[in-house]
Amino acid sequence: MNKYQVNEKGYYGPFGGAYIPEMLYPNVAELQATYLEIMQEENFQQEFQQLLRDYVGRPSPLYLAKRLSEKYGANIFLKREDLNHTGAHKINNTIGQILLAERLGKKRIIAETGAGQHGVATATVCALKGLECVVYMGEIDTKRQAPNVARMKMMGAKVVAAQSGSKTLKDATNEALRDWINNPVDTHYIIGSVVGPHPYPDLVARFQSIISEETKAQLKEKTGSSTPDYVLACVGGGSNAAGMFYHFLDEEHVKLIAVEAAGHGVHSGETAATTALGKEGVLHGSRSILMQTADGQVVEPYSISAGLDYPGIGPQHAWLFKSGRAQYVSITDEEAMQAGLLLTKLEGIIPAIESSHALAYLEKMTLRKEDNIVICLSGRGDKDLDNYMTYFGL
Ligand SMILES: Cc1ncc(COP(=O)(O)O)c(C=O)c1O
Repeated sequence: MNKYQVNEKGYYGPFGGAYIPEMLYPNVAELQATYLEIMQEENFQQEFQQLLRDYVGRPSPLYLAKRLSEKYGANIFLKREDLNHTGAHKINNTIGQILLAERLGKKRIIAETGAGQHGVATATVCALKGLECVVYMGEIDTKRQAPNVARMKMMGAKVVAAQSGSKTLKDATNEALRDWINNPVDTHYIIGSVVGPHPYPDLVARFQSIISEETKAQLKEKTGSSTPDYVLACVGGGSNAAGMFYHFLDEEHVKLIAVEAAGHGVHSGETAATTALGKEGVLHGSRSILMQTADGQVVEPYSISAGLDYPGIGPQHAWLFKSGRAQYVSITDEEAMQAGLLLTKLEGIIPAIESSHALAYLEKMTLRKEDNIVICLSGRGDKDLDNYMTYFGL
């Protein structure tokens, strides 16, 4: 394991751990004790790889976006997670976790969701395996991501709207944790990002690491080298970025750039730019960096993108930020929306608003024509069509 991966105690530098109520100990301890062994079993790997191939449609293409490359004067490759079944990277993790839950004998699945992509990906694998599914979603998000609520319901999931706080992802996560405490024996909680108590951040990063594993081989074929100059990904909790960075962490010459949501601006009071404003603290079971008041209350985040509307980042990201291995930047709503429209016009690809944040950072980079850049196109924009239309008055 390298210095950027979790240690045997569940920490990344000073970040990580499992800060949980006593009543969650049995669930989390069971996962900690079993996850690596189960994931390494031959029949687990066989089923995981087969589902990624035949059900998700992997490998996802690495696409050289010619017109976008011409505009920015460098070689821009898009890792097309938007082409996965259900439309985002989230399915890589839910396939892995449903197989884990099955092997642990769990019969009921719960999840939290922001943009609804993780909720849809969870409802999908529950349908696939015939398991009961309950998805918690902030009430505001149920409205701005209505098509995804419909998809979850059609697949048989129960969608519970979280009414507390800002009625977004943080609040949905609180509700899901409460459910898990009340249902410790038969229920597995499929966390959708690299957040939560150990082992979740590591577990989710491992399932998402397929993104960089494939990218390396695809780059080698297309450019002759398996490493690019830059790798970019947006960060909500940080799972697509964790998967996109995973196999490049040790290649220190590859510049890793994580893009957070600045909302209306870093200092506008309506933002989700965690590393710009956050301080160290504990959120949802792990020590990380989060936006908080002087007396430690979590600050309500804001972003136009439901998937990035989260006041923290996963503990590995906190460590990559603090150690300087990756650069953390932020992009406003307006910059992201324009970048989404630009990709649509230049390449005929409508990106999820989350992914548009990563694309928008191209405007701020100084590039050379020989630079190779990989951007994780974490999801497709179907769920965001209403938002785009309203925003641009189309
Ligand atoms: C398309 C897409 N990209 C990115 C994210 C952000 O999550 P993460 O930071 O875990 O990749 C989401 C979350 O819902 C999403 O739907």
